[in-house]
Amino acid sequence: MLSTMPVSGVFAAGSDVIKVALVGCGGRGTGATFDAFASGQNIKLVAMADAFQDNLESTYKTLKAKFGDKVDVPDSRKYVGFDGYKAAIQDADVVLLATPPGFRPMHFEEAVKAGKHVFMEKPIAVDIPGVRKVLAAAKEAKQKKLNVVVGLQRRYQTNYREAIKRIQDGAIGDVFAGQVYWNSGGVWVRPRKPEQTEMEYQMRNWFYFNWLCGDHIVEQHVHNIDIANWVKGKYPVSIQGTGSRAHRTGKDYGEIYDNFAVELTYDDGSVVYSQCRHFEGVANRVDETFQATKGRAYLSASNRAILWDAQGNEIYRHDPKGNPNAYQQEHKELFAAVANNEYVLDDTEHGAYSTLTGIIGRIACYTGKVIKWDEAITSEVDLSPEIYAWDALPKIVPDENGVYPYPIPGKNTEFYIEK
Ligand SMILES: NC(=O)c1ccc[n+]([C@@H]2O[C@H](COP(=O)([O-])OP(=O)(O)OC[C@H]3O[C@@H](n4cnc5c(N)ncnc54)[C@H](O)[C@@H]3O)[C@@H](O)[C@H]2O)c1
Repeated sequence: MLSTMPVSGVFAAGSDVIKVALVGCGGRGTGATFDAFASGQNIKLVAMADAFQDNLESTYKTLKAKFGDKVDVPDSRKYVGFDGYKAAIQDADVVLLATPPGFRPMHFEEAVKAGKHVFMEKPIAVDIPGVRKVLAAAKEAKQKKLNVVVGLQRRYQTNYREAIKRIQDGAIGDVFAGQVYWNSGGVWVRPRKPEQTEMEYQMRNWFYFNWLCGDHIVEQHVHNIDIANWVKGKYPVSIQGTGSRAHRTGKDYGEIYDNFAVELTYDDGSVVYSQCRHFEGVANRVDETFQATKGRAYLSASNRAILWDAQGNEIYRHDPKGNPNAYQQEHKELFAAVANNEYVLDDTEHGAYSTLTGIIGRIACYTGKVIKWDEAITSEVDLSPEIYAWDALPKIVPDENGVYPYPIPGKNTEFYIEK
């Protein structure tokens, strides 16, 4: 948390309406808007933007039915297409950015330029130039005293806050090893329709394309990777790993992998092992464990946190009773800061660097190389298309059989990293 610093007074506490715009009206955008309304502040949704009209309209209907007059979005403030975000951002005091992450750097940059407070979903980019763009905009946000929350909700979850504070205060000594996991069954496929252009198909199936999603090590496992970085209080200096496509093969699954196993090595020699996979019908696991010189720790998003000493005695067990919902807590803190004209929230550094950790992990697995943080951070490999238009082509397209090229370590690595 930043120290409490007053921002230029814009809101008369409690009476002025805080205007909100939603950019990216899908599942999480809808959820984030519910969470914003649950903040208890005097807010109104005044603008919505989505690449697709059908997605915007169905989310509008859901929100209007639930929140009535607090959803004040006439057709003139519903913006459809790739450029809609610009007008929606102008209409608001706070913007909720919940598109696929490939667009996040561009949308965050625009929101900061326009002087808006931001809630942005994780991850904050899909490639390294995107991370740098977010970090540059973050500097400007700081100068302008704009509060920024990143949707790594474990940072707002009481069990993590309490246990990691104790770890950082030395309760289990120095952490020299850890294991972080997101092993689950995977997500939706939206079948190709004959009338779709390649751009529309990829946009509808954004999870399977790196320019939109970043692969699941970035898109989803960033949550657990961020816990490793938070516990360590630093970022890795080198990353290596292995991954492949085992279950999700074939034309429905774009270019991404379905499993990654990665070692994150920190400057003190400690190593955190990170594992994520999307396999149906096998053991699932989503949590984090750490070993230290005077004990060990177990953490999980199911509100659990336990610390043991070196002899195996329990020294802390988190009590989940009455803990707030972490998704709502993000918005409670953000909207309270805005309503009180305070500048107290800046999640950009850990949001950007934990995203970067995932991106470097992906590159290490795709290329089979050991990747040094300091070398990777200058990468110019930009995954985004030259042009955002429905008839434009993304950089990765299928072959004549409809199958997408995918990375094979040691073979076709030039698309993923320099040299
Ligand atoms: N924190 C969490 O636990 C959590 C959970 C789920 C999703 N997420 C994140 O939220 C984001 C969205 O995921 P989702 O599950 O809601 O996906 P989704 O497909 O349900 O929604 C994404 C929406 O963004 C729209 N969109 C795409 N490109 C756009 C553009 N350029 N401009 C405007 N709109 C655009 C899509 O049409 C769609 O309606 C992702 O970054 C995802 O990682 C976070």
